[in-house]
Amino acid sequence: MLKLNFKNSDSAIIGEENGLNIYQEFENYRETISNIIKSLNQRKDKPGQWLQWMNLGYNEETVWYVKEFASLVENRFENVLVLGIGGSALGGLAVTEALLKPYWNLLTPEQRKGLPRIFFLDNIDPDSISGLLQVLDLKKTLVNVITKSGDTAETMSQFMIIKDLLEKELGDNYRRNIVATTDKKMGILRQLADQEGYKTFFVPDDVGGRFSVFSAVGLLPFALVGLDIDQLMNGIKDIDLELKNTDINQNIAAQGALIQYLLDTKKGKNLSVMMPYSSRLKYVSDWFVQLWAESLGKEFNNNGEKVNIGPTPIKALGATDQHSQIQLYNEGPNNKIITFIRVENFDTTLEIPRIFEYTGIGYLGGKTINDLINAEADSTRVSLADYSRPTMTFSIEKIDEYNLAQLLYMLEVQTAIAGELYNINTFNQPGVEQAKNYTYALMGRAGYEESAHSLREKMEVRN
Ligand code: PA5
Repeated sequence: MLKLNFKNSDSAIIGEENGLNIYQEFENYRETISNIIKSLNQRKDKPGQWLQWMNLGYNEETVWYVKEFASLVENRFENVLVLGIGGSALGGLAVTEALLKPYWNLLTPEQRKGLPRIFFLDNIDPDSISGLLQVLDLKKTLVNVITKSGDTAETMSQFMIIKDLLEKELGDNYRRNIVATTDKKMGILRQLADQEGYKTFFVPDDVGGRFSVFSAVGLLPFALVGLDIDQLMNGIKDIDLELKNTDINQNIAAQGALIQYLLDTKKGKNLSVMMPYSSRLKYVSDWFVQLWAESLGKEFNNNGEKVNIGPTPIKALGATDQHSQIQLYNEGPNNKIITFIRVENFDTTLEIPRIFEYTGIGYLGGKTINDLINAEADSTRVSLADYSRPTMTFSIEKIDEYNLAQLLYMLEVQTAIAGELYNINTFNQPGVEQAKNYTYALMGRAGYEESAHSLREKMEVRN
């Protein structure tokens, strides 16, 4: 099971000025936290609360449908191409990067056991889109276009390019290469999919993009590349039981949320660094950054007061970023809480040969790379504590479906609890919508004429 070590955020280790008297704070917030957990669990089935993500681990129906579709298209495609952005891409990227064999797309079909390669187009860089289209044979590619709203300009523009190419190459049969994941009833993609007859999956109501990784948004691509989605679900169900515990002393999501909230609001640590010590978890940081930023960065609180609140998440990778960011974290402004993710057991044990014994690097021989990476995680934590910098460490037993799902789901619950502590709406994103609307206006979408006019005026001054 996932574990949390928060000792290095305690004042006993890093001093009163920067650390918390953690067990005292658990006592102080015992009732608040218990009420938050009860309230989240009571509200989770109510429409409009945006808490349906808490039920995704139990969604047997979606699991059945995605598995059925994956088996229907088995061996038909060499590639899966996911079109999506933000919450419609980052969960998929995080999970596939973590769970597929490293360098999956470079393996031979035999090494992949006939399973397809997978690509995510989550940006609109013309060079990278056309570059990818040059290396993909679209006839052998299943395109999964994912957008909850159904009209996000980035995703839909990619889709328009690719649909056009597919139709030119395949004629009327092009539809077989498209599967759309979108809202059940609303949005342009839903309308198009119904008109054109695409196979579709839906993003459930009351599940926001950044909380959608365990809906069809993630599960479909995972099933297509052969990940064990039953084990993902088992991981969520098991940790969900623990995270329903209203006692903060027993609930690591509540502990993580409270510690980060207090370090921000009492000790000025308003930057939150996510630093897994595993390349396979690199995109978990990207996913977390969106989750934490979009959920907690808000202008108004739930009482309608202007607060402009929210910790700033930063992604880092251990050990790589020890050689890039740690200098700043140790000696620069003491305004961060650093969360490490430590992998207890890697799939591989890689021994360093006993060579060059007569040199200064001889001490490495006979050790393993596994020892080295975890020694670096531990020593970085200690050195940060020497500089009175707060850190916490989540330990994951190994990177597999079961344990990774627990980590991601726990981080979602941690975010929801933090949102309640900050007293903000964790599940909206007016700041994102604003930028989306400006783009629509600028690109001449009907209905946005007035904003286009005022936007052009502002741009003359600001650009
Ligand atoms: O978390 C969110 O809500 C956003 O990041 C969205 O996922 C992102 O803007 C893409 O939206 P959509 O899925 O509607 O295309």
